[in-house]
Parts: sequence; C-alpha cells; structure tokens
Amino acid sequence: MVRSSSVVPAAVSLFHVAQAVGNGLAITPPMGWNNWNSLACNVSEDLLLSTSKKLIDLGLQDLGYDHVVLDDCWQSPRGDDGYVNADKEKFPRGMKHVSDELHSVGFKFGMYSSAGEMTCARFAGSLDHETKDAENFANWGVDFLKYDNCFHMGRMGTPQISFNRFKVMADALKATGRNIALSLCNWGEDYVHTWGMSIANAWRMSGDIYDSFSRPDALCACDTNNPADPFCIAPGTHCSVLFILNKVAPFADRSIPGGWSDLDMLEVGQGGMTDEEYKAHFALWAALKSPLMLGNDLRIMSPQTLSIVNNPAIIALSQDPHGRSATRVARNTSVPKDEYDIGETHIWSGKLKNGDQVVILLNAANEDVEMSASLKEIFTPSGPGGSAPQVKESWEVFDLWADRMSDANAQAILDAEDQASRSEVLKKLNWYNASEVSYKEGLEKGDERLFGKKVGVVEPRGQWDVLVERHSAKVYRFRQVNGEAGDHDEL
Ligand SMILES: *[C@@H]1O[C@H](CO)[C@@H](O)[C@H](O)[C@H]1NC(C)=O
Ligand SMILES: *[C@@H]1O[C@H](CO)[C@@H](O)[C@H](O)[C@H]1NC(C)=O
Ligand SMILES: *[C@@H]1O[C@H](CO)[C@@H](O)[C@H](O)[C@H]1NC(C)=O
Repeated sequence: MVRSSSVVPAAVSLFHVAQAVGNGLAITPPMGWNNWNSLACNVSEDLLLSTSKKLIDLGLQDLGYDHVVLDDCWQSPRGDDGYVNADKEKFPRGMKHVSDELHSVGFKFGMYSSAGEMTCARFAGSLDHETKDAENFANWGVDFLKYDNCFHMGRMGTPQISFNRFKVMADALKATGRNIALSLCNWGEDYVHTWGMSIANAWRMSGDIYDSFSRPDALCACDTNNPADPFCIAPGTHCSVLFILNKVAPFADRSIPGGWSDLDMLEVGQGGMTDEEYKAHFALWAALKSPLMLGNDLRIMSPQTLSIVNNPAIIALSQDPHGRSATRVARNTSVPKDEYDIGETHIWSGKLKNGDQVVILLNAANEDVEMSASLKEIFTPSGPGGSAPQVKESWEVFDLWADRMSDANAQAILDAEDQASRSEVLKKLNWYNASEVSYKEGLEKGDERLFGKKVGVVEPRGQWDVLVERHSAKVYRFRQVNGEAGDHDEL
C-alpha cells in the first residue's frame, strides 16, 4: 500500500502555523526507527527491510512510525569519481533498491552522514563533499538525513563556524530539488538550539543517550549545573534520560512546527531501565516534542516494550498540532538521593491545541514521593504567580497510561502468524489507527482513545496530589470542565 506523503497538508498549514526552516517537512516531530542504539554498525539491506516489515506487522506504522533511518557504516570508501556508494556486501542491490522497497510500503527513507572528514565509525564523511553526497542522497530517494558531527577538523567553537559548516549540506540538499528533511546531530555544541532551526528540521541538543535513567557518566561531561563547564566541552556519549531532560529544560521552548529539539533516539526496550523508567522516558520525549525514533531491535521486542511505544494517548502528545514542547514549571532537588547523589522531582506542563494541558509529574528521587502540582504552577507558562486565567477554572484529570495495552494482547500481536490475525487482534481492541484517522483529526473529534481515563477533578485554584513511585512519571491530560475548545496557535 502506498500512503500519501505528509507534504500536502504540511504546505497548507504553512499559512497559519509559524514554522522553522520552512521546507514544509516535519510539521509534527518525525517518528520512526533508527538502527544505531541496538545494532550500531551491524547494518544491511535485510535489517532495514525486515524491520520495515515489523513496523507494519506490529501496527506501528499505522501509529505514525513512518521513517526507517539507516545510521552509520553503510558506506564503501569514496571513489575516484568523488562519490560514496553503499557497501556491496551489506547492500547487494544498492541504496536505491532499499529506498524503493521502503517507499513501496509507505515508509520514508532516512540516511546518515557526518559533517566531518570521516563519520563517527570512520567511514567517508561529507565535509567538503556535500554537493556530491547530497546528489547521491537525492538520486537514491532519501527523505531524511541524520547529519553527525564527528571529525569536523576543528571547524567548530563558535555558533557561526558550526552554522556555516552545517549550512553547506542544507544548501546542497536544497540544490538537488528533492525535499529532504535535515536532522542535525551536533550534540548541542555551539548553541545549536539558537541556530539549528534556520537550516534544519531537528537538532540534537546533547551528547548521545545511553540506556540509563539517571546514572551520571564521565563520558557525558556537560553538566549544566557545573559553572566549571559552561561551554559544554565534551558532550560525549553516555547521557542519561535525566541528564538530557535537565539539559533541554532552559530552552525547551525553542521547538516549533518544522524544527525540533532532538533529545536523541529512544532506548525503550533495550534492557537497561525498568518498565516505569521506560514509560517516563517515552512520555517525556513525546511531550517535549522530540523526534520519536525507536532504537530497539524490533525483531526481539517484548510485549511490555510494544505496549509502551504503541500507546496512542501518549503519541498524541507528540503529534499535537499546537507543536510546542512542554516546559518544566517546577524542580525539587531536596529529595532523597541515590548512591550517585542523584535525586530530584520535576513537573512539566504544556499547552495542547484544543486547550488541554499535558502535565507530567516525574519522580527521579530515590524513593516514592507524594507530589503535588497546583494550577498556579501548571499554568505558569500562561502567566506566573497564579495570574493565568486557567487557574480560576476546574479541570478534569485524565491518566494517559490508563488504557495501556495488556501484556496478553501485546503478546498476541507479537505472536500473530500473519497480517490477518494481527489485524484481527487490533480490530477487536479497537486500537487507534492513525492511517485511518490522523492524530489531528482524532483530537479535533475527541476520539476517546487519545484521551486516557478520567481519574479526578481539580477545583479552581486547587492542586493535584498523587503518590509517584520511585523512578516513574504520572502523565496526565488536564481538560477544562465545560471548557470551550480554544485554538492555541499563538506563540
Ligand atoms: C547482525 O545482524 C544479523 C542479522 O541482521 C544477525 O544475525 C547478527 O547476529 C548480528 N550480529 C551482531 C554482532 O549483532
Ligand atoms: C489502518 O488503516 C489502514 C487504512 O484504512 C489500513 O490499510 C491498515 O490495514 C490499518 N492497520 C491495521 C493495523 O489494521
Ligand atoms: C521538596 O520535596 C521535599 C520532599 O518531598 C519536600 O519536603 C519539600 O517541601 C519540597 N520542596 C518544595 C519547594 O516543594
């Protein structure tokens, strides 16, 4: 089946939504899969095509995961003609074949290179070869380019130098005439959150994530709380979920439709975190409008992993047409700490298109905590000190994890022998299908599969109190009682 691309509705929305780079792409945060976190250099045609089949078979493509992104290690050495072709052993029929196969079943094809003389795994990089590499990407039908930062030959150190280096590829892609989304991976260096949106659809704001909720690591050196490292000298590779959240907090508001702060690919299902930690990781990435790129090996997925990433009520936060990140409205570091001296709680809050508010209470303390979120705090972004008009209203509270798919049903999908029996399971569950009803439409119509389950009410000027387990998050949609569905496109 061939799905229509998102380019048409995106172009229409240009007229009423402020946009970043303005190529009409990534109007909501891109979703899909990238091989790096689970398989690193072990890439092949078979991996990409068998994974794309899994995305379809598990119902994930129909929830919006429509990019298949190939990371590093696909290259053979740059030829005498100046072009880099695919490694013939890994990709015996070439990249165009992979791309055609993916397109024929409705996927966008994502590719990888680095703005350096070599890529991070030391294959041919694109620095000073941007024109020819972009030409190849366009000829192969690439839709999305993850563009890394390794071996940059010292061409960094000020925002202007980094901007210029990455802009060469942005211009080269544009010159091909093919509309290719650009996803910068320069690890938050040189204040990319201040200039990435001018040339790219997404920009990585930290060093690489690793499969840990909160463990600090010497390799993820940038400590935003450490005055000795104000310039983030070594963004590194072992950044925890909590580290990334703390790093993005001061500039979470920079994302707008078409340009997103990228918190890095997901670690859900990789084995280093608990179920509750993965749920928190996924929900925060959704509410903070990071691209949602699955990073696990889909061929060995557990039912618990599937039922985290296939929750439409959480994905609807990511794909909400308002297109602005939740921001952190409270942080408490006076809570019990673990052996690494890590322990804190956060409240994140963000406006949604229909006037609802996403509210996340994150407990990263070393014990269960009774947390409270007052309307005064929750609506700080609309007016500090209780001045926001929303504080005087009553709000119904909906738990967005309440309708998580059961293990038994997720297992039935994983076990289904063919498409028909898998579809039967999903149909019986009346599971959300975004290919049938887009998130935008489902939200407008009040499709209850996107709204979780009502668990209480907060009275005017009131607060929401809840026990939040150690290393977990409560994720809510606050809905105004008798509220009018307002349009909230204003910046
Ligand atoms: C690499 O991938 C292939 C299949 O895609 C798999 O059979 C093999 O075990 C993988 N090797 C490693 C080291 O992960
Ligand atoms: C979702 O809807 C599309 C369009 O109607 C359909 O082709 C597809 O099979 C459905 N997906 C599932 C998982 O049932
Ligand atoms: C921070 O959390 C601790 C422990 O739950 C609590 O006693 C304290 O009042 C909180 N501080 C603030 C400012 O909320």
